[in-house]
Amino acid sequence: MAELTALFRPQSVAVVGASKQPGKIGNAVMKNILASGYRGAVYPINPKESEILGVTCHPSVSAVPANIDMAVLSVPAAQVLAVARECGEKKVKALTIITAGFKEIGKEGLDLEKKLLLLCSQYDMRMLGPNCVGLMDTHTPINASFAATFLSKGEIAFLSQSGAILLAILDWSETAELGFSKVVSLGNKADLSEIDFIEDAANDPYTRVILCYIEDIVDGPRFIEVAGRAAKKKPVIVFKSGVSQAGAQAASSHTGALAGSDLAYDTAFEQCGVIRAHSMTELFDLAVAFSKSAIPAGDRVAVVTNSGGPGIIATDNIEMLGLQMARFEKNTIEELRANLPQEAGIYNPVDVLGDAGVDRYEFALQKVMEDSNVDSVLVLVCPTAVTQPVEVSHTILRARDAYPGKPVFAAYTGGQSLAKGAGLLSGAGVPCFTFPEPAIVCLKGLNSYGQYLNARAVADERVLAGVDQKTVKAVFYDATRDHRLILLGSEAAEAANAYGIPTAPIVLATTPEEAVEAADKMGYPVVLKASSPKILHKTDVGGVIVGINSAAEVQKAFIEIMESVHRYLPKVVIYGIEVQKMKEPGTELIIGMTRDLQFGPLIAFGLGGIYVNLLKDVAFRLASDLKNAKKIEEMISETKAYTLLKGYRGEAPKDMAAVIDVIRRTALFVTDFPEITEMDINPLFAYKKGVSAVDVKITIS
Ligand code: ACO
Repeated sequence: MAELTALFRPQSVAVVGASKQPGKIGNAVMKNILASGYRGAVYPINPKESEILGVTCHPSVSAVPANIDMAVLSVPAAQVLAVARECGEKKVKALTIITAGFKEIGKEGLDLEKKLLLLCSQYDMRMLGPNCVGLMDTHTPINASFAATFLSKGEIAFLSQSGAILLAILDWSETAELGFSKVVSLGNKADLSEIDFIEDAANDPYTRVILCYIEDIVDGPRFIEVAGRAAKKKPVIVFKSGVSQAGAQAASSHTGALAGSDLAYDTAFEQCGVIRAHSMTELFDLAVAFSKSAIPAGDRVAVVTNSGGPGIIATDNIEMLGLQMARFEKNTIEELRANLPQEAGIYNPVDVLGDAGVDRYEFALQKVMEDSNVDSVLVLVCPTAVTQPVEVSHTILRARDAYPGKPVFAAYTGGQSLAKGAGLLSGAGVPCFTFPEPAIVCLKGLNSYGQYLNARAVADERVLAGVDQKTVKAVFYDATRDHRLILLGSEAAEAANAYGIPTAPIVLATTPEEAVEAADKMGYPVVLKASSPKILHKTDVGGVIVGINSAAEVQKAFIEIMESVHRYLPKVVIYGIEVQKMKEPGTELIIGMTRDLQFGPLIAFGLGGIYVNLLKDVAFRLASDLKNAKKIEEMISETKAYTLLKGYRGEAPKDMAAVIDVIRRTALFVTDFPEITEMDINPLFAYKKGVSAVDVKITIS
C-alpha cells in the first residue's frame, strides 16, 4: 500500500499540540521523534510557542512554509476536526490521531469519529487511530508515539489494537532482546485497520514476521483475502482476544449452538494461513520461533531427552496437537541400540538417560537429524550432577547448522544451573523454553504454516445445474408476508429443493382429506408432522407419527396429532399437518449453517440425528472456502461420519459425491441468500446411491 509511505517513511512530520511541558503527550511525541534519529523535517505546531525542544514552532499547520506528509495530532478531541480540516487544506497525506474521546466513549464520540472519517476521505488523507499510541519504524527511523522507549531494530512487525498492550510489550521487549521492524497502535481503526497494515508489512523488505493483537475484525472477507495473500509471503500470527460463548447461547439451530461465537475466527484463520496464538506468551513464543527457525517439511518430531517424565509430556503434547512422533528408520534404531547404554530409550523419545554427558546427546542428535523420517527435533535437558548444559547447547547449534532445513527446539527444564546453556541457545537462534509444551506449540505453528505454503491452489467449481432463485424468493416472500421468520418444513424443503438439494417429498395439508390426497399421490408409507414454527421438538408433544400405510391411517393420524398438540400446547398456532414420503433410513448426517457477523456463512457437517449435540462430531468451514469437491472432502474427512460414509465394518460405502454436492449447494444457497440466518438439514440420509434431506429448517431475517 503506497499510501502508508506517508506514515512510515514521511519526508516531513508536523506535531499538532506539541508542547514544552514535560509530562504532556505533545511533549513526549516531539521528544520521541527527535530522539529516534528521524532525518526528515519536523514541525511542532502550537500557537503559544515560537520554539519547542530547539525546533522552530508554527502557530498552525497552514503557517508551515513547506509540504507536510504526516501530522500527529495530540490536541483535545474538540479541536481535532478543525485541525484535521486544516491538514486537508494543506494537503497533508496522513494523520496519526492520538487523541481519545471518540467511538470508545459512546454515541457522541462515534458521531465525531464519523465526521472525522468523512473529512479524511474528502481530503484523501489516510488516518491511523484515533485513540492510539502512534507508530514506530526502526528502519526509517521514526518514533511518532508517546511510548517511553524506542525499539531495537529487528524483523517483527507488531500491530496492536490495545495501546496498553503495545506499550507493555515494548517495555518487555528490551529485556527479552526482541527487535522490531515497526509497531503500530491501531486505536479505534476508524480508517486504517490491521488489514491495511498486514498488507503493508507483507511488502516491507525489513519485516519477516507479522504479529497482531486484535479484539475484532470488521471486514472478514477482506481480512481473509489480504491476510491469505500476506501469509503466502511471510507468517502472520494473530492473538485475538474476546473469545466468548454468548453467541452460542443465543443460537437457535443445532449448527449455531455447536459453532459458538469464536469458531468463525478459527475457521477463517485456518483458511487464510494465519497462525492463531491463544495468549500473549504464545504470540511472542511463535514470533521468536518463526523469526529464527526453518519451516519443517512435515509433522514428524523426534525427541531427545535425558529423563523420562519430560519425554512423556512431550509425546502427549505432540499427539494432542496433531503432530506425529517420528518413526525412525531401521538403521537409526540399530545405531542407537549399538552405541547407547542398554537401558536407553532407542525409539522415540530417545532417552539418553540421566547420567548422559554431552557425548550421548551428540550421538543421538546426529542420528535423529540425519534420519529422513524426522522433520524436526526437540531436545530436552534436565539438570543432573553430570549434565553439561553449555556443551549440549554447542552440540545442538552444530546440529542445527549441519541440517538447516530441520528446526531444532529445546526445553531446558530447570533453573540457574541450566541458564547459561539455555541463554547460549536463545542467543544463537535456537528457541529454548523452560518446559516442553510451548516448544511443541511453536512446532505445531511452523508445521501448519508449512502446510499452508505447500497447499496447491484448487480452482473453484461453480454449481450451475438445478439452481432456481425465483422459487426461493417466492417462498421467502410468502413467509415474511405471513410475519414468519422460521419457515415451515414444507417451505424449507421447497427452497432447498430449488437449489438442487434432494429432499423427501413433503406437502402441507390443512384437512384430513387433503392429507389423504397428498399421501395417495406420493405413495405409502408416509410420515405426518404438525406444521408450526413454534414447536421445536415435535416428537415430545405427539406431533409426529411415522409408518402410515393407508388412507384410513392418514385420517386417524391427522386427528391424533391435532388433538395431542392442542393438549400439550393449547396456545400454539398449527398451520396444518405435513405429509412426507417416508424414506428408508440411511447414514444420518447433518449439514448446517450459522451466519457469522464478520465472516459470513459458516457451514457445519457431521453425524446427524437426534444426538448431534451430544456427539459433537462436526467440522466447520466458511462457505467461501467450500467451492470445490477437494476442499469439501477435506472437511468431511475431519469427522467420524467420514469413516461411516466410506463403509464401516463391511457396510457398503455411501454416495460421497452426493454428500459433497449437497454441502456445495448449501454453501451456495446461503451465500446467494444473505437473509438466511440459520439453516439445518438434519437428518440428511446418505445411501449407497443418492441422499435425501428428511428435515430442513431455515430461519430468515
Ligand atoms: N493547534 C495547535 N496546538 C493546540 C491546539 C491547536 N488547535 N489546541 C491546543 N493546542 C495546544 C495546547 O495549547 C497545548 O499546548 P501547551 O502544552 O503549550 O499548553 C497542547 O496543544 C495540548 O493541548 P491541551 O489542551 O493541553 O491538551 P492535553 O495535552 O492535556 O491533552 C490529549 C491532549 C493528550 C490529546 C488528550 O486530549 C487525550 O486525548 N488524552 C488521551 C490520549 C490517549 O490515551 N490516547 C489513546 C492511547 S491508547 C492507551 O490507552 C494507552
